[in-house]
Amino acid sequence: MQIIIYDNAEQVAQNAAQWVLSLLKDKPHPVLGLATGSTPIKLYNELVKHYKAKRTSFAHVTTFNLDEYYDISCDSPQSYRSFMQHHLFDHINIETANTFLPTCNKDQDPRKQGLDYEAYIKQAGGIDLQILGIGANGHIGFNEPTSSLRSRTRIKTLTQQTLLDNSRLFKSNELQPSLAMTMGIASIMDARYILLMATGKHKADAVMQMITQGVSSNCPASILQMHENAVILLDKDAASKLPDHAYYEWVNEQNQHLNEKFGLFHKF
Ligand code: F6R
Repeated sequence: MQIIIYDNAEQVAQNAAQWVLSLLKDKPHPVLGLATGSTPIKLYNELVKHYKAKRTSFAHVTTFNLDEYYDISCDSPQSYRSFMQHHLFDHINIETANTFLPTCNKDQDPRKQGLDYEAYIKQAGGIDLQILGIGANGHIGFNEPTSSLRSRTRIKTLTQQTLLDNSRLFKSNELQPSLAMTMGIASIMDARYILLMATGKHKADAVMQMITQGVSSNCPASILQMHENAVILLDKDAASKLPDHAYYEWVNEQNQHLNEKFGLFHKF
């Protein structure tokens, strides 16, 4: 795990954008894994800014989102499809046909929908760079604590904490789904690179557990300790319960030299 601590959420987003831009430059047909939630919004704003300034193009990009609510229509404002259109897809030159979200249609077998999603990812050549946020309970995607570390895309029941955390996005008269289709932990771990962003004090405990405690399904994000290329971008608040800030800083100085010389990515 590479841990990089920035002063604020803006810097986290700006630096995350550099990773995405670099992938888009390096690979003719890049595959991006995307997340929803509050954390990546600033990153998506940055990407739109770079696109509008003609510094990048999404013409040959394919995307796979982590999750989608159960039985929600695509055009519902609370669907993750709407979120992605609103914050990113509507503002860049990506082909809609190349933007995938899991389906969780109540009239179809959820197991088949999960398997189909895995097959689409495989057909696209796998995910090059997966963007992740982290839940206050340590979840990644909607893989709640106790999720199998070998799980694949499937339907999950959300915890009360997740429902509460996300309730801000639903009006009081709207039904908030308590089920969702999510890429599994093993599906996420298949990505060649993983970029997890966390900002704010309310993430400090989950971040500390992810980085300093043993790998455990109680904190699904802790599995990233086992990933070859996981980069964790934090603001000072999210990093506030971590020891060894000076060490992370020093490592990053060394890595910056290496990245300048050899590029951010290898193996593409
Ligand atoms: C979203 C997702 C979730 C969020 C996490 C953090 O697609 O998969 O795991 O990344 O709940 O959400 P925010 O960023 O709203 O704190």
